[in-house]
Amino acid sequence: MSTEKNQIELQLKQVQAAMLHCLKDTNLNRLIPDNKNILGSGKMLRSQLVLALGAANGIPEKELINAAAAVDMIHGASLLHDDVIDGGIIRRGAPTFWKKYGVNGAILFGDVLMFKALSLLVAVNRVDLLSELIDRTGEVCRSEVEQELILRGSPGTWEECELVGRYKTGSLFAFAAVAGGNREKEQTDALREAGYILGTAYQLADDVLDASGNEEISGKTLGTDDKRGKTTAITATKNAPEDPVAYLFQLLENALNLLKKWPEIHGAWDRFLKMTMVPVLEKHVNASVD
Ligand code: IPE
Ligand code: IPE
Ligand code: MG
Repeated sequence: MSTEKNQIELQLKQVQAAMLHCLKDTNLNRLIPDNKNILGSGKMLRSQLVLALGAANGIPEKELINAAAAVDMIHGASLLHDDVIDGGIIRRGAPTFWKKYGVNGAILFGDVLMFKALSLLVAVNRVDLLSELIDRTGEVCRSEVEQELILRGSPGTWEECELVGRYKTGSLFAFAAVAGGNREKEQTDALREAGYILGTAYQLADDVLDASGNEEISGKTLGTDDKRGKTTAITATKNAPEDPVAYLFQLLENALNLLKKWPEIHGAWDRFLKMTMVPVLEKHVNASVD
């Protein structure tokens, strides 16, 4: 394993510890041993992006760990809520929280994670990132609501489907990218946009996975998009690219090209794509041909 990959693996353990630490002063802590699928057991893609970029920019480790924990906690909270909405019964290879404890518990636990995540940024004095995370999380919520209340039941156009991906999933990748940035405006804006594009590609691949993947391999309930009439890359045929999978891989190139001005960051992003994102994306879109 390369030194970079090694360092990220070690730091991910610190990110997991920081997430668990957030619940130390609450009695919710006792629920964690039996519900390992809530915190820190996913692929931690957003944390990995923070750590990879932050190392290239020489950002202090404590800030990176807390920003990574914050984004993966918000992501975890969004999944607790999303599984209620979609009626998912398996997440990260285990029963979903709502299935075990009821809808109320899942909603309330998700709320706690969201606010505990924000405190992690206050603890490292990164008000800039706190503001970024509040804005990006607002977009995730807005987009989930739009998909539920405005778009549901309509196949949607490709533009609508891409916008769902950009905000529902791209927003937290955008936060992760900004969190690893050097805090200067030009780089921050470029990283945010690259994150949005990367997350859009990831959501398009997740739409393909939901339609044609394997539940055992993916470790989550699939097929709920169709059941619930969601607008996704599968339903949105109007203005859709001829080859949606080729299109989503092209989005990865577009995101990378935004970072050419900063060779260290460009290199770190490129390695993150090759070592981490591309293998996951390929698994998602190829699941139906396995
Ligand atoms: C799943 O995200 C939901 C989407 C936003 C597509 P991940 O695939 O990153 O989920 P985990 O954290 O690894 O379980
Ligand atoms: C992802 O929604 C959840 C959020 C981004 C909030 P999906 O419904 O598309 O994701 P999975 O397939 O359940 O992981
Ligand atoms: Mg879902």
